[in-house]
Amino acid sequence: MNRFVSTVGLSLLGVALITATVAVSSEPLDGEQLVQDRCTQCHDLVRVERRFGQDHAWWERTVDRMVGRRAGLLNDEERTAVLDFLANR
Ligand code: HEC
Repeated sequence: MNRFVSTVGLSLLGVALITATVAVSSEPLDGEQLVQDRCTQCHDLVRVERRFGQDHAWWERTVDRMVGRRAGLLNDEERTAVLDFLANR
C-alpha cells in the first residue's frame, strides 16, 4: 500500500515537473500577434486601434466582453498577453 502510494506520488511529481518545465520554456505569448489573429474575426483592427490609449481596466472590460461573445477566444495566458499589449499602446 505504501509502495503504491509513493509510486503514485512520484508519478504525479514527475508530471508536475514536466508541466512546469514546458510552461517555463515555452515562448512568451505575443500579444500583438494574438490581437491580429483573434480580434479580426468579427471586425477589423481599426476598431481596436481607434481605442489605443485606453487604460488597462477599460481593455479588461472590453476584452472580456469580446470573449463573452465567443467562448474560448482567449485562454487566461492569452488574455493576459493581449491586455499587456493593448493597455500599453
Ligand atoms: C465574436 C465576435 C468578436 C470578436 C472575436 C471580437 N470582437 Fe470586438 N466587437 C464585437 C462587436 C459585435 C462589437 C461592437 C459592440 C461592442 O462594442 O460591444 C465589438 C467592438 C469592439 C471594440 C469597440 C468598443 C468601443 O467601445 O469602442 C473594441 C475596442 C473591440 N471590439 C476589441 C476587440 C478585441 C481586442 C478583440 C480580441 C480580443 C475583439 N474585439 C474580438 C465583436 C467581436
